[in-house]
Amino acid sequence: MTLRLGVVGAGVMGRKVAAAAAQIDGVRVSAVVDRDDNRATALAGTHDTHAHESIADLVDSDVVDAVYIGVPHHQHLSACLEAAGAGFHVLIDKPLCNTLEEADQIMAARDAAGIKLMVGFSYRFRAEWIAARDAVAAGEIGAPRLVVDTIIEAETSTPGWYWDGAAGGGVLQLQSHHCFDRLAWVLGERFASVGCQVSATAAAAEDIAIINGTTGAGTLVSINLGFGRSYRSASRATTIIQGELGHIVIDTARNVSVASGDGRLRSLSYADDDWLLQEVTAFVGLCTGADGAVPGAEDGRAALACALAATRSARAGGPALSLF
Ligand SMILES: NC(=O)c1ccc[n+]([C@@H]2O[C@H](COP(=O)([O-])OP(=O)(O)OC[C@H]3O[C@@H](n4cnc5c(N)ncnc54)[C@H](O)[C@@H]3O)[C@@H](O)[C@H]2O)c1
Repeated sequence: MTLRLGVVGAGVMGRKVAAAAAQIDGVRVSAVVDRDDNRATALAGTHDTHAHESIADLVDSDVVDAVYIGVPHHQHLSACLEAAGAGFHVLIDKPLCNTLEEADQIMAARDAAGIKLMVGFSYRFRAEWIAARDAVAAGEIGAPRLVVDTIIEAETSTPGWYWDGAAGGGVLQLQSHHCFDRLAWVLGERFASVGCQVSATAAAAEDIAIINGTTGAGTLVSINLGFGRSYRSASRATTIIQGELGHIVIDTARNVSVASGDGRLRSLSYADDDWLLQEVTAFVGLCTGADGAVPGAEDGRAALACALAATRSARAGGPALSLF
């Protein structure tokens, strides 16, 4: 059986997902949807398929079994409801949506339609994060105590809506969901509290955020997000997880080192791992009945709850006491 995949949103992520899907046996990119006709036509041409203006067109033409939704996230709710209503399985990119009520609507639509829905929490498919999660689960570092998770990105040419607060832009909406999900997943713990401070340049959504949190098991978490939009440079990301017996470091180059309680240092490198191929493969497996856990709408809702709490904290002035 061939899974017919429609790509909704022919932007940065839609193009990458289509390229990944084209490498997987048993999947065909069978339609491209974008309200920008040039983008839709160009990507459809690359995959020898047809361009469409809306998800509604896909219903009428019966050309897809599942869709990847990669439109700006203030449109995630309507796209998910439309796709579920049509009976299409859904891979929705993060963040799931904008409010907890929207998340509940998406879950209700999923359940009513009996479709599969996966959220594109890409880090769960990155080999270095899987290695870190396995090391924590195996008790190699003992009970987690502290996490410091830092992502610094710098890109002058990001899509405009990334920095439009009204369209859900800013690092809290765009990036913090990844951190909340990957840390809860790697620790096997849910967040219990979140505080946040942000800064922004004039007339733009926040591009810097310092988030602190605690998990239900008492691990202290620091998430630091910086996005430079006035210069261009390679991303820098480092995550350190300290436990009672050792620690794990994940670096920008996708190396993982695990210092365990018996004094051993284990180093692993995953520079060549194709995480998006793994992510799309997992979605195809979900649609075709394969076993295996994937991030679902409940996980998207949990990350959203954290991001909304961070936003409320930042608006309230952050968790710090003023010295002046
Ligand atoms: N998983 C990851 O690592 C990752 C990385 C970057 C972005 N994202 C997420 O992917 C999603 C897409 O981001 P992007 O960077 O590809 O954005 P983008 O702006 O590059 O692409 C979005 C596309 O959607 C189209 N579009 C907008 N509204 C539409 C509609 N109603 N119907 C059809 N097409 C419509 C636009 O014309 C555009 O081509 C966002 O949710 C973003 O947060 C995920």
